[in-house]
Amino acid sequence: MRKLFAALCVVAVMASCAFCETVKLPAPDKTCPTTLTEALALRKTERDFADEDFTLQELANLLWAAGGVNRPDGKLVHPVAMGKQDITIYVFTRENVSKYDPKANTLEIVAEGDYRRDTGYKVQKEFVGKAAVNLVYVQDLALWEDMKAPDELKQRWGFAHTGAAMQNVYLYSAAMGWNCVVRGSFEGDSLAKLLKLSPSQNITLVQSVGKRPKN
Ligand SMILES: Cc1cc2nc3c(=O)[nH]c(=O)nc-3n(C[C@H](O)[C@H](O)[C@H](O)COP(=O)(O)O)c2cc1C
Repeated sequence: MRKLFAALCVVAVMASCAFCETVKLPAPDKTCPTTLTEALALRKTERDFADEDFTLQELANLLWAAGGVNRPDGKLVHPVAMGKQDITIYVFTRENVSKYDPKANTLEIVAEGDYRRDTGYKVQKEFVGKAAVNLVYVQDLALWEDMKAPDELKQRWGFAHTGAAMQNVYLYSAAMGWNCVVRGSFEGDSLAKLLKLSPSQNITLVQSVGKRPKN
């Protein structure tokens, strides 16, 4: 009986981990072809993308700029209120949907397949579906459970964290000559379902990044 129970547990874990593949990212390349002030001068929104993927190195660099660890104590490239690292970045590419773990520098695959269009809203699905990557920023209010403050304040800080991360992405994209658009319009309910978000998790913003069309 005990053996049967153990076997059933193994099967259950295997079933729940059908997409539990983890991809190790290369260390981020911190060299940059422009200065910070040149990137600031170049930053803008563009909504057309070449149908071209990023290399794993390019993706690792972009994610590090968005929300990677930049100090030995595990703090991030962008500031966070009360030390609460409450934003998770979900990464939509042609191959799959994954979750960025900045400490481990890995991507945990949560769904196989191309769901990039699903991050778009109405007509925007067209260009969104071509961008090499769509980043979905998700705040988890559960991380704030120990703090007595209204949810509205905690949510405001989550939006501030996302704002800092998305501006880093804009600047990194400008520096690399890529196109980028941040989006507040998205189909939140279906995206939350796809990502299997819990009630404490909310999508704050979505951002598309990709190579420029060659014309
Ligand atoms: C919070 C926020 C939400 C936005 N939402 C959308 C959106 O849903 N769709 C879109 O195409 N652009 C969106 N944008 C991009 C703005 O339209 C763009 O930043 C604005 O036109 C200014 O252009 P610039 O970024 O080139 O300075 C958003 C920008 C911000 C900051």
